[in-house]
Amino acid sequence: MTNDISIRPLELEDFNAFLDIQRDALVHAPEVFGSDYEWFEALSRLSKEQRYEMYLDFPYRFLLGVVHANGTILGMVGFSNEHGQTKTRHKGRLWGLYVRPEYRGHGFARTLLSGIIEAARDVVGCELLQLSVSTMNQASYQLYLRFGFTVYGTELRAMKVGDAYVDEYLMVNYLR
Ligand SMILES: CC(C)(COP(=O)(O)OP(=O)(O)OC[C@H]1O[C@@H](n2cnc3c(N)ncnc32)[C@H](O)[C@@H]1OP(=O)(O)O)[C@@H](O)C(=O)NCCC(=O)NCCS
Repeated sequence: MTNDISIRPLELEDFNAFLDIQRDALVHAPEVFGSDYEWFEALSRLSKEQRYEMYLDFPYRFLLGVVHANGTILGMVGFSNEHGQTKTRHKGRLWGLYVRPEYRGHGFARTLLSGIIEAARDVVGCELLQLSVSTMNQASYQLYLRFGFTVYGTELRAMKVGDAYVDEYLMVNYLR
């Protein structure tokens, strides 16, 4: 990793760079994320900004980014924990792992996953981390297994992309 790159939680100032990588993700990995490109593009800038702000409430909700010194986000992953909800605050959610195609294979996904798992362990009351991954996405699935996630269920037809259904493994990592 060069000095030009930092791994850090995204901030409000990263909004434009976030829009850029989210667009990139919706184009290059449409099966990975729930929202679709046309829907996302049709949102007003204000509602995109409001949605973005809702992702940021460190350490309970945040986006961990691989950020270049020029501000470009090369990769990111999201974390959320409902710390105000007594019945569900023991659960954390990992979502939106994405590395731009031209920056893959440099260990960024591994760094992001380690960072989120470490941060989740530091959240008081957070006992486990859940995620969903397409059953077709073997690269990510294998990666999650290596990071201690196990499958606790499969959601059939979790998404429909065009005419094709995407099934998803539901995975969990018990942090404590
Ligand atoms: C999956 C993804 C995040 C990996 O990012 P990356 O920065 O290239 O991953 P890393 O360089 O940290 O590599 C992590 C491991 O995955 C393996 N890997 C990554 N891409 C792979 C591929 N296409 N096929 C096989 N293995 C792959 C690497 O060999 C490495 O293995 P290791 O831990 O044994 O060394 C990236 O390919 C991506 O953004 N894909 C599209 C979005 C996606 O699928 N997100 C997951 C949603 S659940």
